[in-house]
Amino acid sequence: MFASNVVAAPRITSRKLEADRDRVDALIAGMTIQEKAGQLNLLGDPFRFRPMNVNPLDGQGDPARVTRMIREGLVGNLFNGVGAEAGRRIQTIAVEESRLGIPLLFAADIIHGLKTVFPVPLAEAAAFDADLARRTARAAAVEGAASGIHQTYAPMVDVARDQRWGRGVEGAGEDVWLNEVLAVARVRGFQGEKGLADRDALLATPKHFAAYSAAIAGMDYNTTDMSEATLRGTFLPPFRAAFGAGALSVMTAFNDLNGVPASGNPYLLTEILREEWGFTGFVVSDYTAEQELIAHGFAADGRDAARIALLAGMDMSMVSGLFLEHIPDLVETGDVPLARVDQAVRRVLMTKAALGLFDDPYRGCDPERERRVVGSREHRDLAREAGVKSIVLLKNEGGLLPLKPSGQKIALIGPFGADVDNVFGPWTIWGDETRRISLEAGFRAAMDDEADLAVVMGSDVETALPGGIAAAVLAASQADVVVLAIGESARMSGEAQSRTEIDIPAPQRALAEAVSATGKPVVVLLRNGRAMELSGPIKDAGAIVVTWFLGGEMGHAVADIVFGLVSPSGRLPVSFPHRSGQQPYSYDHKITGRPANNALASQEYVARYRETTNTALYPFGHGLTYGAVTYGAVTPAAATLAWDGEVEVSVDITNAGDHAVEETVQLYIRDRVADLTQPGRRLRDFRKVELAAGQTRAVTFTLRRERLEYVGADGRPKVQPGAFDIWLTSSAQAGDLATLNLTPS
Ligand code: BGC
Repeated sequence: MFASNVVAAPRITSRKLEADRDRVDALIAGMTIQEKAGQLNLLGDPFRFRPMNVNPLDGQGDPARVTRMIREGLVGNLFNGVGAEAGRRIQTIAVEESRLGIPLLFAADIIHGLKTVFPVPLAEAAAFDADLARRTARAAAVEGAASGIHQTYAPMVDVARDQRWGRGVEGAGEDVWLNEVLAVARVRGFQGEKGLADRDALLATPKHFAAYSAAIAGMDYNTTDMSEATLRGTFLPPFRAAFGAGALSVMTAFNDLNGVPASGNPYLLTEILREEWGFTGFVVSDYTAEQELIAHGFAADGRDAARIALLAGMDMSMVSGLFLEHIPDLVETGDVPLARVDQAVRRVLMTKAALGLFDDPYRGCDPERERRVVGSREHRDLAREAGVKSIVLLKNEGGLLPLKPSGQKIALIGPFGADVDNVFGPWTIWGDETRRISLEAGFRAAMDDEADLAVVMGSDVETALPGGIAAAVLAASQADVVVLAIGESARMSGEAQSRTEIDIPAPQRALAEAVSATGKPVVVLLRNGRAMELSGPIKDAGAIVVTWFLGGEMGHAVADIVFGLVSPSGRLPVSFPHRSGQQPYSYDHKITGRPANNALASQEYVARYRETTNTALYPFGHGLTYGAVTYGAVTPAAATLAWDGEVEVSVDITNAGDHAVEETVQLYIRDRVADLTQPGRRLRDFRKVELAAGQTRAVTFTLRRERLEYVGADGRPKVQPGAFDIWLTSSAQAGDLATLNLTPS
């Protein structure tokens, strides 16, 4: 049922586990209650603080005070400070100068790379390529681990169906299956294949548990309210997949879920996570999340908040200090059983043991190795490859793209032409700022004659520039083709960056208007951390390319596609709606009793908006190539699927164009009649297939019952016999279907 079922979790031998248990039990037996609370206390690293850190409270701690706390065993974990040499110094305080010598755990938000910055996770999801996601996570882990880090607060596996919410950029988009597949790949990438004690492993922390992305009206931190079936069927599967792949920590979420904040929610943190799923790692709060139980109106004060969070199942408190402050008294008065505190401490210490910290507390503290592996050439090449594979070609009228590297005058217009501040995208604290390839630099490197390129800003991201439009129009009129680099800045998506309209800011729309009035062909290169509403001349441009935030090698990756060195292969992991007001929107919405194409109803009284049908302008899964791929009929080898049997379903795909391409063949299903109403389509598999110019290939998927299942409100997979529609096609809105009957057992 779950994508995780296909992947084995990293093995820990039972002998090692027993030895760790003995060691940890012995430690716990000798710890004071303050020292226990210290192991559950996580603070921002004040020693290696960088002003780019996202949260203002990071590093506000006083190094001298935190040094004393480490010595006294009052803090066991630090986050968002990196660096091997300083790591050794800080670790020495814990190991040599504290009473018990328990090593510190160093964590960091390594979201899409450390020094080498890879595409933002949403962009990389567009590659529909689990192995690529595994490889970039691996490279990020190698760099992080060599910089003295043990744990990353990634991957974010929140299924994001409302593009107003800014944090969709950190995840894998709107689809459950793609989120599951990439959750597994990223966990495997971060943690590696050799066990957590390996010097290149980073402990993965799927976040934010749970349903954080379902914030009402797309406003970050907002309340979520949903049925059990939606929670189980949409928001939990990627977490379960991540744990199936071996993730040994998890971060709670800020949101209130059905009236109980996720960070004080025993149903989530204990019943589902521990009792149902058997998760054995530790639960870390999000940033001050347990303290926020007070603002939620769910806890009376800090003591109450610590009590509620601990009893719900939170093991480690981030930043607030509430666990440290209140655990001794909570245990003393019996409000929290000592056994519960010991359990949390055991989970944290067992994870430290699994990371090999008791055997080598200085793992990753070798500056020489750090210099060698961090930001290596190999990683930069991977960033470029990932960038190329993440780019999505939405539209290409009359073969406007690729452009010619010579003999064509290009006007590169817009706020992102020469810009380097917005190539990394959100969530990069330690990226190599000397390695931020702008579009201009990428174009210049790819073009035969730099004199063919004019670069004009025209407008800033959210404000007009005096004389900007006039300069842009002049450049456009002197060029053969305009490349319009427009969209969102890195600051416009990410945490707390919700938008009411997911459109291109007005000054850039005005720029697009003026430039397209010159009549020159326009290629739009969209910079974005979410799906966007495209309108007017932007929507009508001859070619539209989604370039996201591709990381350090962005300019080269975009040039590789724009100048045709590589044919685009990315697919949208989020649907581009016709209008912002359709949000939340995902292709796998239910059909309703009055579908828009319902022949029985008048066309007025159907599920639609006055301005548009409820479809996507560019749907999930959509993406063109420089070839011309056509699909034949979907052909099941049999009309029925026996309950415990399997059926092969095939389609012939042909590349009638003259470029070699990589096509992503997507398998969607619809359960015609079920005990729980089902979406009009659901992605259940996909495969990337290479096609030479002129080549035809048969692509075959093997279907078993489990691929037809949905998750019921009790969390269990379900399916009933009956008819299923099957598509093998190029997007969530394309293709003809075949029908398959699942027969009873
Ligand atoms: C974010 C988390 C992040 C944490 C630590 C929070 O504000 O929600 O995703 O891991 O900060 O930086």
